[in-house]
Amino acid sequence: VVEVSGKQAILNLFMSNLHRGSWRELGTDPEQWINFELWKWLAQTAERGKLHSLFVADVAGIPYSDITPDVLRRSASLLRPEPLALGAALSACTDRIGIVLTASTTYHHPYNIARYFAMLDHMSGGRAGWNIVTSHMAGEQANFGLERPIEHARRYEQAQEFYDVVTGLWDSWDDDAFVRDQESGIYVDPDKLHVLDHEGEFFSVAGPLNTTRPPQGYPVIAQAGASPDGRAFASRVAEVMFTLQQDYDTARAFYTQMRDQVAAAGREPDQIKILPMLQLVVGVTDAEAEAKREELNDLVDPVIGLSILQKMLDFDLSDYPLDGPLPDIPAVTERAQTRQQFVIEAAVRDNLTIRQLARWVGGGGTAVSAGSPTSIADHIEQWVGGDACDGFNLTFADPQVSLPKFVDHVIPELQRRGLFRKDYGGGTLRDNLGLQRPSDVARRQGAGSAGAAA
Ligand SMILES: Cc1cc2nc3c(=O)[nH]c(=O)nc-3n(C[C@H](O)[C@H](O)[C@H](O)COP(=O)(O)O)c2cc1C
Repeated sequence: VVEVSGKQAILNLFMSNLHRGSWRELGTDPEQWINFELWKWLAQTAERGKLHSLFVADVAGIPYSDITPDVLRRSASLLRPEPLALGAALSACTDRIGIVLTASTTYHHPYNIARYFAMLDHMSGGRAGWNIVTSHMAGEQANFGLERPIEHARRYEQAQEFYDVVTGLWDSWDDDAFVRDQESGIYVDPDKLHVLDHEGEFFSVAGPLNTTRPPQGYPVIAQAGASPDGRAFASRVAEVMFTLQQDYDTARAFYTQMRDQVAAAGREPDQIKILPMLQLVVGVTDAEAEAKREELNDLVDPVIGLSILQKMLDFDLSDYPLDGPLPDIPAVTERAQTRQQFVIEAAVRDNLTIRQLARWVGGGGTAVSAGSPTSIADHIEQWVGGDACDGFNLTFADPQVSLPKFVDHVIPELQRRGLFRKDYGGGTLRDNLGLQRPSDVARRQGAGSAGAAA
């Protein structure tokens, strides 16, 4: 175990099940997406474990065009909860945990998003976070009147302007603009009002916002795109970055490079928290957890596993024998580069056939995933202590079983090692993450991360 630097882990619960077989396990609710009692229980269990935040992903549609009837028939992951409605409800049945919700800069309007997250931040006592996505999934654009997806670089240009408008709207009123003096009858100080008057390439927004400045100044900004454009955007705006590195050396290299990029963008590197995804099955012993993972992977329908594999590779495997090796796959130049490379490397490293690889990706395809509390704590200690990340975006292959085990057995082990705090610290999500609160004068002095939005 690597020497710890005194750094403590940041832990986020990814409220999504990437395992494509575990819904078939007996005792699991197969209709998870609309079962609010289940979401609530997951959120409250994570809060019992003092996790910093939970995160709800989003795709506004079903990638219908490339689903064959047989894949469609067997797909358990077509339906998705609407994150903004779900997050608002979860904020009302939790007290301390951060609520990070995905909202697309391609399929929303910035005025509505600024209003929504300001309101959520007020209602939750400063626990709101916005995961900014530009949306890349096939099957979304046609729901919003577009014939084809907007081009990658253009989406990020729009995202930057969207962010500038939203943060500009959050700065509509100084923190102390509302005097509400009942004696004199003066409610607001007009000198503390800043009308945005934004006229840009993508949006035209007058402002001001009809809510007071959010308790956190800005809700916490999260981002998960790691392309060159995505990283450049993250270096300017992201305070939490969800990533996918699976091995320690790659993660360490990414961590150093991303923090350097944040510094080059004029921000303090400590003001971005990098959280790779870690999918877990928790057992009493490593052997028990590994056996459970194998059982769950046996429940992955081969048709579904193969469909996911082909998507990850961006390659049609129907001409190749399932029990043969992976053929040479031409490199994609689009967004899925890293994922494609990751799968090919795994196939070579573990000498896997197409069938074995399909089963593995259907099970979430992660390298370190099943273990005892000690092994999982060792992993977290190595990565966080060795500056490969600031913590993890945790997901569980069998959340109803493994999340409570994580909370009851891994968290105390991490606390014993000084790697996880014993309770929530300050009041807001920002405070708990060690992030600075954007001041209400920084933007006007040209020191804000967004620059002038007008
Ligand atoms: C952990 C994680 C969660 C993500 N969640 C979403 C999501 O909810 N909705 C979405 O459209 N994209 C999501 N993405 C995709 C990224 O936001 C991003 O759009 C994608 O990686 C492509 O961007 P890039 O080309 O900059 O890499 C997620 C990515 C990661 C790693």
